[in-house]
Amino acid sequence: MDWGMKNRMTKLIKSETGRAVWLAVDHGYFLGPISKLEKPKKTIDPLLPYADAIMLTRGVLRNCIDANIDTPIILRVSGGNSIVGKALSNEGITTCMEEAIRLNVCAVALSVYIGSEHEHQTLINLSKLVDEGQRYGIPVLAVTAVGKELEKRDARYLALCCRICAELGAQMIKTYYCKDFKKVTDGCPIPVVIAGGPKLNTDEDAFKLAYDAIQQGAVGVDMGRNIWQSKFPIAKIKAVRAVVHKNASVKKACILFNNLKKK
Ligand code: 5RP
Repeated sequence: MDWGMKNRMTKLIKSETGRAVWLAVDHGYFLGPISKLEKPKKTIDPLLPYADAIMLTRGVLRNCIDANIDTPIILRVSGGNSIVGKALSNEGITTCMEEAIRLNVCAVALSVYIGSEHEHQTLINLSKLVDEGQRYGIPVLAVTAVGKELEKRDARYLALCCRICAELGAQMIKTYYCKDFKKVTDGCPIPVVIAGGPKLNTDEDAFKLAYDAIQQGAVGVDMGRNIWQSKFPIAKIKAVRAVVHKNASVKKACILFNNLKKK
């Protein structure tokens, strides 16, 4: 791996633990101002000290985030779709590599929609982005999106998606946790992080999700709604960090969370 790419990867996946807690705040690119991200700066700023990286679009980065932050940036560079449009899978590249370099990002991220009407187009987007990333030393995070079909989250399908992204040259994968998740990580030769998905019923459920994913081979989480839609987002991300970086059990994470909530 080239020095620049290696350096960026080291900032994203902490060498002390080999793990990562990223904060996903890119949802507005197809969902608009969803609950708790109406004013991105208000939600994001207090969480920055606890995130190993933040994932967002250039619009939110340029307009809502101070340029003096140390937190590494994962720039979402795919889009062109919306929750009210015809097909969520109809994505293209929305931000060029030159802009990503100008913004001093540590990685670029795009979604692929395997099994959808736009499978081919999104996989070619990935391949082209990887070529450009290799040219400039920028790692690519491939997101195995499922669109509105959340029921697609099973090991056979996600293992297929992750492996295809790795074969096409992505440096990292973001996917969903599922039953038999080890099959997904075992079949994927590059680091895998999980999305949190829609807010879960309890805080404990979110810690269990992170814990189970880590135990089954994920290197971390790229979590959004389960952190910043929580009533106690700082306590929540700190407890998730304990699970990911310190192998805390779900019980320990709950105790930590309940103590931090009171402060
Ligand atoms: C959408 C994304 C989002 O960033 C994402 O799903 C992660 O956030 P959450 O934990 O809220 O699911 O990549 O494709």
